[in-house]
Amino acid sequence: MRSIRRQLLFWLLAIVLLGVGIAGWLIYRQALAEANELFDYQLQEIAAALPAEPFSQILSSRDTGDEGIVLQIWNRNGMLMYYSHPRAPLAPRAELGFSTERTDRGDWRVYGAIVGDNVVQLAQPLSVRNRLAANVALRTLWPLIVLLPLLGVAVWGVVGRGLAPLRRVTGALDTRHPEALDPLPDARLPLEVRPLVRALNGLLERLAVALDTQKAFVADAAHELRTPLAAVQIQAQLVARAHDDAARSEALADLQAGVTRATRLAEQLLALARAEPDGREAANEIDLDTLLHDCVAAYAPLAQRRGVDLGIEASEPAFVRGDTEALRVLFNNLIDNATKYTPGGGRVDVCLRVADSRPVVTIADSGPGIPPEERDRVFDRFYRVGSGANRARTDVAGSGLGLAIVRRIALQHDATVTLGDARAGGLLVTVTF
Ligand SMILES: Nc1ncnc2c1ncn2[C@@H]1O[C@H](COP(=O)(O)OP(=O)(O)OP(=O)(O)O)[C@@H](O)[C@H]1O
Ligand SMILES: [Mg+2]
Repeated sequence: MRSIRRQLLFWLLAIVLLGVGIAGWLIYRQALAEANELFDYQLQEIAAALPAEPFSQILSSRDTGDEGIVLQIWNRNGMLMYYSHPRAPLAPRAELGFSTERTDRGDWRVYGAIVGDNVVQLAQPLSVRNRLAANVALRTLWPLIVLLPLLGVAVWGVVGRGLAPLRRVTGALDTRHPEALDPLPDARLPLEVRPLVRALNGLLERLAVALDTQKAFVADAAHELRTPLAAVQIQAQLVARAHDDAARSEALADLQAGVTRATRLAEQLLALARAEPDGREAANEIDLDTLLHDCVAAYAPLAQRRGVDLGIEASEPAFVRGDTEALRVLFNNLIDNATKYTPGGGRVDVCLRVADSRPVVTIADSGPGIPPEERDRVFDRFYRVGSGANRARTDVAGSGLGLAIVRRIALQHDATVTLGDARAGGLLVTVTF
C-alpha cells in the first residue's frame, strides 16, 4: 500500500541528499581551484628561494618532502645535478613554466625555472590538491550529513502530525453506529482534507434522506398491507362459518375480492420499489404511439366491463428515451384510475400530441375529477381522495400508490405530470416529456 508518509520521507531525503551531493561537488571545485592557485604560488616561491650556488647546500637547507614536492636540478649542460626523490615517476625533461605531467602514478603539477646557472624543476602530485579540496568539501558538509537522520525523524513526525486530521476523520467514521448519518465536524480541518469531509457529508446527507424515505416506505407498506390481510382473514372466517351454499359463495366472492386487493397492493408496492430513483434502467428509444395503443388495448376489456368508453382520441408519432416497462406501468396506472373512478356510461379519452417537439400525453375522463386542493396530495403514497369524510364519493378499491408510482417514473424520464379539469367534467392528466 502506498503511504504518503513513507513517500514524502523518501523523496524529501532523496532531494536533500541530491542537494548535499551537488553542494559538495561545487564546494570541491571551488576549493580545488583555490588549492591550485595556492600550491602553484608555493612552487614559484620555492623555486625563487633556491640559492643559485652552491646547490649542494640545498640538500641540507630545503626540506622538500613535506608536500611531496620533488626537486630536480640540471646544470646548463643538461646534467642532472640533484634529484630529491630519485624514485619519483617523472620523465627527465625540463619545461619552463607550469605544466601537468601524466604518469602511471597519477598527474603531477610541474614547474620549471632557471635559477642562476641551473634549470630547476619542482613537481608535486595533483592528488595532494584533490585530497585537500575533498577534505574542505567534506568538512563543510559533514554536519549536514550527520543531521540527515534527524531530518528524517523530523519529516516523519511532521507528516504524521499533518495526517492526524485524516486519522481523526477515519476514527470518527469507524466508531459510528451504522445508522448515525449526521455530518462529520469539518471545523479545524486542514484545507486539503476539508473537501473530502465535505463530500462525505454530502453523501451522508443524501444517504440519510434515502434511508428516511426507505424507512417511511417500509413502515407505510407494512401498515397498509395489514389492512387487506386482516380483511382476508375475517373473510376466510366467514367462509368457514357459512351455514348454507348461498352464504358460502357470497363469502367466497368477498374473500376473492380481498385477495385481489391484497395482490394489487403487493404489485403496486413492487412497482414503486422498482421505480426507485436510482433504479434507472437501460434507456431505449420508445415509440410512445405504439406503447399507448398497447396499454389502451390491454384495458379495453376491463373498461367495457366497467361500462366506460375507453379510446384513443388522437395520436401522432412520438419517441422518447427511457424504460419501456416503466412507462407502461405509468400509463397503465393513469388509464386504470380513469376507468376505475369514472362511473358506468362515462368516457376516457387518451391523446398523444407533440408540442414544441415535446411529446404530450393526456388522459381525460368524465368522472368526478379531483378537487384542486387535493391535486398535490394524491401523489403521496397511500393517499386516497375521500378516504376520510367523503369516502362514499370514491368507494373504489385501491391502494393509493398509483399516482406515487406515476410521479416517480415520470421523474426518471424527465417528464412532468399535471392534473387539471377535463372538458367532459372529470380529471385531465397531462404527461409532458
Ligand atoms: N381519474 C381520477 N378521477 C378521480 N379521482 C382520481 C382519479 N385518479 C386518481 N384519483 C384519486 O386519487 C387517489 C390516488 O390515486 P392513486 O392511483 O394514487 O391510488 P389508487 O387508485 O387509490 O390506488 P392504486 O392505483 O394504487 O390501486 C385515488 O384514491 C382517487 O381518489
Ligand atoms: Mg390508481
